[in-house]
Amino acid sequence: MSNIIGKTMDSLIQALQPLSMTLFFIVPLLFMLGLISRFRRRLPYPPGPRGLPIIGNMLMMDQLTHRGLAKLAHKYGGLFHLRMGFLHMVAVSNPEMARQVLQVQDNIFSNRPATIAISYLTYDRADMAFAHYGPFWRQMRKLCVMKLFSRKRAESWESVRDEVDTLVRGVAANEGKTVNVGELIFSLTSNITYRAAFGSSANEGQDEFIRILQEFSKLFGAFNIADFIPLLSWIDLQGLSTRLPKARQALDKFIDTIIDDHMQRKKDRNNGSDEANTDMVDDLLAFYSDEAKVNESDDLQNSIKLTRDNIKAIIMDVMFGGTETVASAIEWALTELMRSPDDLKRVQQELAEVVGLDRRVEESDFEKLTFLKCILKETLRLHPPIPLLLHETAEDAEVGGYYIPAKARIMINAWAIGRDPGSWEDPDTFRPSRFLKEGVPDFKGNNFEFIPFGSGRRSCPGMQLGLYALDLAVAHLIHCFKWDLPDGMKPSELDMSDVFGLTAPRASRLIAVPTKRLICPL
Ligand code: HEM
Repeated sequence: MSNIIGKTMDSLIQALQPLSMTLFFIVPLLFMLGLISRFRRRLPYPPGPRGLPIIGNMLMMDQLTHRGLAKLAHKYGGLFHLRMGFLHMVAVSNPEMARQVLQVQDNIFSNRPATIAISYLTYDRADMAFAHYGPFWRQMRKLCVMKLFSRKRAESWESVRDEVDTLVRGVAANEGKTVNVGELIFSLTSNITYRAAFGSSANEGQDEFIRILQEFSKLFGAFNIADFIPLLSWIDLQGLSTRLPKARQALDKFIDTIIDDHMQRKKDRNNGSDEANTDMVDDLLAFYSDEAKVNESDDLQNSIKLTRDNIKAIIMDVMFGGTETVASAIEWALTELMRSPDDLKRVQQELAEVVGLDRRVEESDFEKLTFLKCILKETLRLHPPIPLLLHETAEDAEVGGYYIPAKARIMINAWAIGRDPGSWEDPDTFRPSRFLKEGVPDFKGNNFEFIPFGSGRRSCPGMQLGLYALDLAVAHLIHCFKWDLPDGMKPSELDMSDVFGLTAPRASRLIAVPTKRLICPL
């Protein structure tokens, strides 16, 4: 027996000998040639400020805001490069470069960057917003677009209408008094998303949930040296090693209880056919599976199976994607109108003519409210709620004759692009009537001069719902009420500065005094 094996081995070795000789010489040769040709072919990085050894441009960290990057773009152009420790960053600040990365080469530029904190808090990218582009993301996106954010999901739209009604009643109750409009608007949008996600039965926990969200938000933005120089991960200045697990445990405890309640309710329903008034947790539970371990590498084919982690992470996407974005747009629209009394007069006149002062605005009126639409577009141009779109390259790429390495963080500056002097006349001025002209860019994603919702594969899946809430809230607030600034403040004295985070809301809340404008009861 051993003889036979020995002979077989001998002949196998003989047969392989020429092959192994070839491999011995050819493979290293090919490798060397590959390296040399790549080295020769390698294009330069896009221009950018010179960095220091190892830390690169980390001393410029405070300039990584929409305003800071726009300033740097004046000096280095529409595509420039920074190196933060070991991380390459590329800022995109003009429409043509945005088209290159969001359309022409979108297959390379559609991944998402995530810090260590974000990966941890999204259960290792178990959501849609931070999942890399691929089969898992595609399935999650399909689920969100077709089930959660779809126009067919009437409950979300209904929660917008109900909460706007509550807001109008709240403002009416404070007629003639100084009202913190910004705070009311933030409660409006967090009520909308909270109700759409968990249903109205979970109302008691809302304050606690907002506290959890606030800590998540801080952790998402916290500086962590390990994201840039992994060797220094032991320096934990922000106490992330304890704060991260604590934050995720708080979320687990909160949402697990809600999921358990929903599961119990589902069991209690006789045959499960009672579909009335389902919330997003109900809709997601229809895809729940105990065993499925869904992660990025799984090819889900056509079956969507969600774990608890997926459900929690998607709910967080909805809360983060749909709350501050919409609130910031509503507050900026009202602020710009208070600062521009002629435009406020004109849009209120339009509302009086189209709707009349004897009733509230209805959805069917929107089509005829042309100037209101211009106001909202102009607001999104000057104040895109997500000023920097964050993408990551899946592989090495070439843009405009420059080299961009794989895993580079791409920051598409939607704020700077909306104010690009090459595309917009008098770009920093609020002038809604510019949108009355023929051929002005629109925000649906085909015009790279105006991308408040992004464009292409990673563009906003909640756009319709977000626009509905924005339209309805602004229309109601300016149709139902006349607004004055407090204490004789002049429109020109309004603070127009913003703060930078995932979104860019006003630095200070809008305060104003409402007076009832309609003759019908509110
Ligand atoms: C005025 C309102 C809104 C604006 C301006 C806005 C804007 C954006 C932008 C700029 C992006 C990133 C695009 C990119 O990276 O290229 C985005 C992504 C996203 N938005 Fe919105 N959004 C709004 C409302 C909403 C709402 C209401 C929801 C959900 C209820 C939502 C959910 C999301 C999600 C989940 C993503 C990630 C998509 C992905 O990565 O595939 N957004 N949004």
